[in-house]
Order: sequence, then structure tokens, then C-alpha cells
Amino acid sequence: MATLQIEKLTKTFPAHSKGGRPVRAIQDISFAMSGQVFVSLVGPSGCGKSTLLNIVSGVDSPSTGTVTVTQDGKKARLGYVFQDSRLLPWRTVMQNMLYVSDLPEEEARSNASKYLEMVGLGHAHEMFPGQLSGGMQQRVGIARAFSVSPDLLLMDEPFSHLDAITARSLREELQVMWNATKKTVLFVTHDVMEAVQLSNRIITLAHGGTVFDDTTVELPFPRKASDPEFAAQQAELLGRFETMELERTAAKG
Ligand SMILES: Nc1ncnc2c1ncn2[C@@H]1O[C@H](COP(=O)(O)OP(=O)(O)OP(=O)(O)O)[C@@H](O)[C@H]1O
Ligand SMILES: [Mg+2]
Repeated sequence: MATLQIEKLTKTFPAHSKGGRPVRAIQDISFAMSGQVFVSLVGPSGCGKSTLLNIVSGVDSPSTGTVTVTQDGKKARLGYVFQDSRLLPWRTVMQNMLYVSDLPEEEARSNASKYLEMVGLGHAHEMFPGQLSGGMQQRVGIARAFSVSPDLLLMDEPFSHLDAITARSLREELQVMWNATKKTVLFVTHDVMEAVQLSNRIITLAHGGTVFDDTTVELPFPRKASDPEFAAQQAELLGRFETMELERTAAKG
């Protein structure tokens, strides 16, 4: 079971320009998550969501504090889905899938086929990224992240570059895949509706990189945005967002 533990994490970037001030992207964040949970991190642009994910994935390091990701006491395997699919254009879909995997060849191929099938791209193994639509490329990105058998899956706004209809259908597919695999997922979005649709738990970050709110979502899956309870949960979260903005404006004077 994957466990992520974040304790007293801060991240400060050096000033962007000479004489400027350092940027405090994350300020004293602590939380833990474990097991078959889908946790969303929501918050306004610039509140440190991607920075947090980059630190969890090891791409970046904390200024202070600790992040540990373990699977049954050992170092956990991670999968990552980015805002854009980041496929290598000169490699086929299957080659892109195999490129990131360190599993034995046979297992890697069988996993790649299984997850490509799940995202409706069982026919696309030999196609090149340039022959795929943006939505199809993002499907490959999602299949690729699942196929490396990650203990913890990190997703950074994977649908934000897509049109609303494609984003909606990919969200539904992700929901089905998550229900089938029950991976531990940390998902970044600034879309409250998306967070309510997909998550067991929603952590809201405020400007300045602090945790503003941490709430569980008990609604059964699959969730439909047209369901009144869904709408109520979404409204409650949006209300808290408004409170957060009001407090910020008041603090500025
Ligand atoms: N490599 C970097 N060097 C300097 N500053 C950075 C760097 N990466 C992020 N920042 C700063 O840290 C803050 C948080 O950025 P981050 O990308 O984590 O925000 P975000 O919540 O992901 O925003 P968005 O929703 O727009 O993607 C911002 O002020 C940003 O300018
Ligand atoms: Mg970001």
C-alpha cells in the first residue's frame, strides 16, 4: 500500500530578478495519504500545486521539511501524467509506452497493451503522436503512467489543455480506470467540479502555498455532475474558495 507523508514542507525559489524577492512557493505544508485513495489538490494559479508534485516526484527538492513515499515500507514506484502528454514524436505509441518502463519487456508490453485498450487505443500501437488528436495523445499519457505499475500516480492538470467535451470523457475514463485499479493518486486541478467528480479527498491550497482546507467526499462512484448531492458538494467547496479570496482581500487591506 503506497503511503505519502509530507511534513512541514517549504519551498522557496531564488528571486526571479536581481534585487527581487525570493518566491515562497510552499509554506509549512503537512499531510499524509495512504492506500486506495484519490486525493485532489486544488487551488488558484501560482499557489504551489505543481511545485508540490515536482517535489513528491523527486524532480525538485524541498527547502525544508520532508517528503516520503513508501510502498509496504520500501521506496514506492511513481507514475506521472503531465498537462501535455510529452510523447516523443519520432516514436510510435507502443515505443513511447515501453520507453518509460523499467519492467521486464514481456510485462511492459502486456501492461502497455492492457492500458491502451482501456483508454480505447488498442488499435493505435503503431501510430505516431503526430497522427493522434490532442485527446488521444493525452489518453496515451494516462495509459503510459498506469502501465509502469506505479504505487503512487501523480497527475498535474492532465485535462486542462483539452476541450470541455474531450476532458469530460477522459475524466469518465479515468474514473473507470481508477475504480478498476484503485491506485493511490495525487491529482492536481484548479477545477472544483473535476475534483468533486474524481476524489475521495480534496485538499485546497491557498495563495502563498499553505493548506487552506482538507475535506473528504463521501459520494458513491460513478459520480454525475447532474446529481443534486454532487452539486451541493461543489457549491460548498466553491463557497469556501470565496471565503479564502475574501480573507485574502481583507488581509491586503
Ligand atoms: N523553477 C522555478 N523557479 C522560480 N520560481 C518558480 C519555479 N517554479 C515555480 N515557481 C514559482 O512558485 C510559485 C508556485 O508555482 P507553481 O507552478 O507551483 O503553481 P501552480 O499552483 O502549479 O499554478 P498553476 O495552477 O498556474 O499551474 C509561483 O509563484 C511560481 O512563479
Ligand atoms: Mg501548475
